[in-house]
Amino acid sequence: MKSTGMEWTDPTAGPMDLPDLPSPEFPDTSPAIRPRSFDEYIGQEAVLSGLKISIEAALLREECLDHILLHGPPGLGKTTLAGLIAGAMGVPFLTTSGPVLEKGGDLVGILSRLSPKTVLFIDEIHRLPRPVEEILYGAMEDFAIDVIFDRGPSARTFRHVLPPFTLVGATTRAGLLSAPLRDRFGIFQDLDFYRPDELVKILIRSAGVLGFSVPEEAAMEIGCRSRGTPRIANRLLRRVRDYAQVKSNGTVTRSLVLEALKVEGIDDLGLNRVDRKVLHTIGTVYNGGPVGVEALAATLQIEVDTIIDVVEPYLLKEGLIARTPAGRRLTEYGQKRISGSGLFLDSPES
Ligand code: ADE
Repeated sequence: MKSTGMEWTDPTAGPMDLPDLPSPEFPDTSPAIRPRSFDEYIGQEAVLSGLKISIEAALLREECLDHILLHGPPGLGKTTLAGLIAGAMGVPFLTTSGPVLEKGGDLVGILSRLSPKTVLFIDEIHRLPRPVEEILYGAMEDFAIDVIFDRGPSARTFRHVLPPFTLVGATTRAGLLSAPLRDRFGIFQDLDFYRPDELVKILIRSAGVLGFSVPEEAAMEIGCRSRGTPRIANRLLRRVRDYAQVKSNGTVTRSLVLEALKVEGIDDLGLNRVDRKVLHTIGTVYNGGPVGVEALAATLQIEVDTIIDVVEPYLLKEGLIARTPAGRRLTEYGQKRISGSGLFLDSPES
């Protein structure tokens, strides 16, 4: 049988071991350093306070939590939050993702085996095929799925009643969700990039979990170069730890962080080689733009989705590029970056 990419976690069975969904870009945040309760979670205060109220209300009513849509760039903690929601509700946590649910039967298989009040997490929900998405409508709204047997005049429908459950959908692109799916979520939460001071707290906590320590000023240098993203911060922390182990007997200092990040190809803004290539290509091949994302992706031989989901949100946030109806263009600031200021900008390959 084809795998539907499901992972079960039962938070009632002891300390929650959250599944680590693969990320093609930044794969190495281990579950061990993820926060295990809302108390350990740093940042996203508005999201957390909204979720805590909904959770407390659902617990008081002894009801299932409403369906939740989490939106934001990759690496900001959507999967982690979904696991924490299940933990706080004291219910099982089941994860899958849009692209692995290829056929209606894949989803029906999951839904028909849910235990009551389960939090079902669907990552990249905007990538669900339409026939699979349509099964979700009834499942979300009526906790039922209609299974059709036979075709033509002898077609019969069997209504399969499901236990109440909470769907937590995660998406980097809320705009790609169809209106009927979007409308079936009762709670929407937008995750935003983290501030450097929040990333510093996350890094100091993560270093502690990993068994070493990072002085605050060193953590700040990592935090400022992590594109507002805990997953990137934690990845860089591990690279810094490796570097310190080899070069300084494990001692992490501010200047060691700067050396280690230079080796990693991370510049003073936290841009990596791919980010810089994107800026350079818009600036040189396309004369500063505007250029359509498809043309840009083809020139760089990168997936369009990687540019949209991973690369450009931070370039937009930092004001290095702008999106116009005609495509992406470099801003004046972006132009300045590629013409010499900052680290590593002597060559797009560096
Ligand atoms: N590790 C990754 N994200 C985190 C967060 N928001 N709080 C604490 N630790 C984290």
